[in-house]
Amino acid sequence: MVRLTSVLVLLSSIPLILSASTSSASSGPAPPISTQIPRPTGPERYIGTTSITLTDPSRPEQFGIGNRRVVVQAYYPISQPRSGSKIEPYLSPLIGGLLSAQYGLPNGTLNTFRTNSYYERSPGPKFRGMYPIIFSTGMSVPRHIYTTMYEELASYGYCVFSVDHPYDAAAVEFSDGTVAYSRVPTNLTDEITEKFFQIRIKDVRFVADQLENFRRSKLMRLDQIGAFGHSLGGASAAGAMIGRTRIKAGINMDGGIWGEVGKSDVSGSFLLMGTPDHNSTVDTTWKSWRNTQDGWNKEMTVKGAKHGLFSDYPTIVDMLGFREVPGIEELVGTMKGDRARKLLSAYIRDFFGWSLKGDKLKLINKKNGQYPEVEYVERAGEKSEVEAQDSEAEQVESEYTESDAGANFGGVIWKLRA
Ligand SMILES: *[C@@H]1O[C@H](CO)[C@@H](O)[C@H](O)[C@H]1NC(C)=O
Ligand SMILES: *[C@@H]1O[C@H](CO)[C@@H](O)[C@H](O)[C@H]1NC(C)=O
Ligand SMILES: *[C@@H]1O[C@H](CO)[C@@H](O)[C@H](O)[C@H]1NC(C)=O
Repeated sequence: MVRLTSVLVLLSSIPLILSASTSSASSGPAPPISTQIPRPTGPERYIGTTSITLTDPSRPEQFGIGNRRVVVQAYYPISQPRSGSKIEPYLSPLIGGLLSAQYGLPNGTLNTFRTNSYYERSPGPKFRGMYPIIFSTGMSVPRHIYTTMYEELASYGYCVFSVDHPYDAAAVEFSDGTVAYSRVPTNLTDEITEKFFQIRIKDVRFVADQLENFRRSKLMRLDQIGAFGHSLGGASAAGAMIGRTRIKAGINMDGGIWGEVGKSDVSGSFLLMGTPDHNSTVDTTWKSWRNTQDGWNKEMTVKGAKHGLFSDYPTIVDMLGFREVPGIEELVGTMKGDRARKLLSAYIRDFFGWSLKGDKLKLINKKNGQYPEVEYVERAGEKSEVEAQDSEAEQVESEYTESDAGANFGGVIWKLRA
């Protein structure tokens, strides 16, 4: 059996490896790098983003004073950026400095990275009726480290809400300028992980409930919410779905599932993504969890992947020219960043297109010459060739014409409006 904690701590060992391999390089000049993350592949040309700090009045903060706060960043297609509108940096100055230092990179290396998204609050009337998808990060990982995935989904018309979990992520900056630094200990036990896990599940549920504030605006289809995440975030997506029927579908990218969540039906469609070392025949938490599920439940293995593949790490590794650095393959696998983005985007969209929108499954559970890296792991007693099912998800009537004054989050107006 794969120890849960060993799967979780993989990402936190990246810094040590990079640090060991670049300590000599950091004294010399940094190698020239392309500083803009690759463009998303979807038909929508422009991506907008904005973030908000939300306070949960029902939960005291276990690591600090006051009530629990989370930072949520949304990504969506926009008609066009305003003139003079600038592309957002990949990381804030604080997080960029912190991660560059933690990864042992020359000062500020990551601060030069830029996204493809504009700080823009209005998707424009064309984009009413978007399908919302909530994302939860891997343990200790700031939300920004999955930006290529958010931009991919936004470029295909989805609205992604990424939840940054304060005191878990390396650092989270609130809108009032205060910063919550990670309290994840280096010697992580299953017991401590469970504590962070429970907080995250509540964070994701809280955000799903807060989306209700968009009900009047008709900007989003709030009865067809998706949830996905990486590592502990993928398990958190499963945990958040339990008993929440509006979250119709979820994806867990390579995260162990245990505790009560491991024994509970998510009451929705669910896709597991694993690696050649990590599947439900070796991870007993996946095996027992899968056997508990009553709904559509599939598990795919991505050949050439390691745990860190399901993030921007392979892309960052390629941008920095670190592919040959010893230890990198153990963390992100052999698949290049370009391929990883293309493959993950295709399968994530195939799944949510089917489970949320009611499109036909085109890739999942079929032999596909385009993606020979993908294989499936059957559940005990399952037929080896399962035909793609048609969605029973009802198509919501498209009546997205009402004007909108933005969503009111307990007095805070998030001016994300059509
Ligand atoms: C890193 O660069 C910033 C300016 O870009 C500077 O203020 C800071 O002192 C530098 N830090 C180190 C450790 O050199
Ligand atoms: C974690 O390690 C520190 C220092 O080695 C030790 O003091 C602490 O008791 C450990 N915590 C746990 C939960 O094992
Ligand atoms: C599951 O993982 C194990 C260990 O890596 C591997 O030997 C096995 O072939 C995998 N099973 C499937 C069905 O992919």
